[in-house]
Amino acid sequence: PTNNTIVLNGKTYIKDDYTNVTPRIISFLDKKLLHRKFHPLNLIKQNIINYFNKNFIGKKGITIFSIYEDLHPVVTVRENFDSLLIPESHISRQKSDTYYINKEYLLRSHTTAHQAELIKMGLDNFLIFGDAYRRDEIDITHYPVFHQTDGVYTLNKEQIENVINSEINLFENNEDTEEKQGIHTAAVTKFIENHLKNTLIGLSHHLYGTKISHQWVSAYFPFTHPSWELQIMINNEWTEILGCGIIRQDILKNAGAGDRVGWAFGLGLERLAMQRYQIPDIRIFWSEDSGVTSQFEDATPETKIIYKEVSPQPQCINDLSFFLADDNIFHSNDFYEIVRHVGGNYVEQVKLIDEFFHPKVKRLSRTYRIIYRHRNRPLTKAEVNVLHSRIANTTIRQFNIEIR
Ligand code: PHE
Repeated sequence: PTNNTIVLNGKTYIKDDYTNVTPRIISFLDKKLLHRKFHPLNLIKQNIINYFNKNFIGKKGITIFSIYEDLHPVVTVRENFDSLLIPESHISRQKSDTYYINKEYLLRSHTTAHQAELIKMGLDNFLIFGDAYRRDEIDITHYPVFHQTDGVYTLNKEQIENVINSEINLFENNEDTEEKQGIHTAAVTKFIENHLKNTLIGLSHHLYGTKISHQWVSAYFPFTHPSWELQIMINNEWTEILGCGIIRQDILKNAGAGDRVGWAFGLGLERLAMQRYQIPDIRIFWSEDSGVTSQFEDATPETKIIYKEVSPQPQCINDLSFFLADDNIFHSNDFYEIVRHVGGNYVEQVKLIDEFFHPKVKRLSRTYRIIYRHRNRPLTKAEVNVLHSRIANTTIRQFNIEIR
């Protein structure tokens, strides 16, 4: 790489006057939060997949929605905008709003960027999960990198007729109105609209419970018509949770699926997770602090978790490895007792991170990780070291262990 190129995922891009990605933004491409087990965004993703698995089972007993979660976030201007009929003049295309690698490539500003390409590949129904990038405002609900899900569902004439058990005409030749695209008949518009709204209300019941109140509000997206926002009542306030609509027939036509009609939706996963787990600040999703991550450990999508604020002071992590005495039955709880006694309020968490039987010396070895953190002030390395050796020495004295 030189000063005027950027290398991403093994590919070299030449910088130009569109380039506005920074090394910091590029560093987010490797984070892959959606792939981290027990990450709150992964739990939400799994919950959404579970809904579609449960409600759209095909002949083979699995969901008819194919799932895409590994599509690379570097896409072309064509994919992100042109293929979705987003006009040249649309604000989202501006350098002030989107992270460009150069004038041809950018970091996708929505996962909808893959819609046309996947339809072209012959897929009828699919879900896309991924990171998206926007030069947005900075506050507790906005971050330049966030995560989205898109869903697409399409059918042809025969498939619709099988569902409604009668004949239907999909297409006519009229002007667009507020209610429908000129090319769609009123009948097929109603069918798709009902299917879309039932599916998404089902999804919001699955995610928020069946008691939730909702309303549909008309919206505008260049790639769907008509379009809606689904709002639900949270803490006495109407909150937008997703955007959706009937796919523009030109998109399907350009992708070689002009005989099909369908719907699409897109939603932001952070907002969902913040509501579900009462996470107060979007930056918490990027935290590697074990005080944060341990709150979601071993959770399933159904687990009820209420996020607890962690101390803003830094953690200091020290491991302790030792061989157990031959004759000793030494329980982890005994060790925790020593840590509690010696470490007091300076220790936030202790966990057993490794245990193995050493075949040569024929002894059991254990490694405990001790996470030090004071709630009101940063700890120095030196004072943590003093505590750490005091814990080690007490354990040697009481249990005759041998430090490795
Ligand atoms: N891509 C839109 C957004 O980011 C959401 C959307 C997707 C709306 C698909 C309609 C259909 O806001």
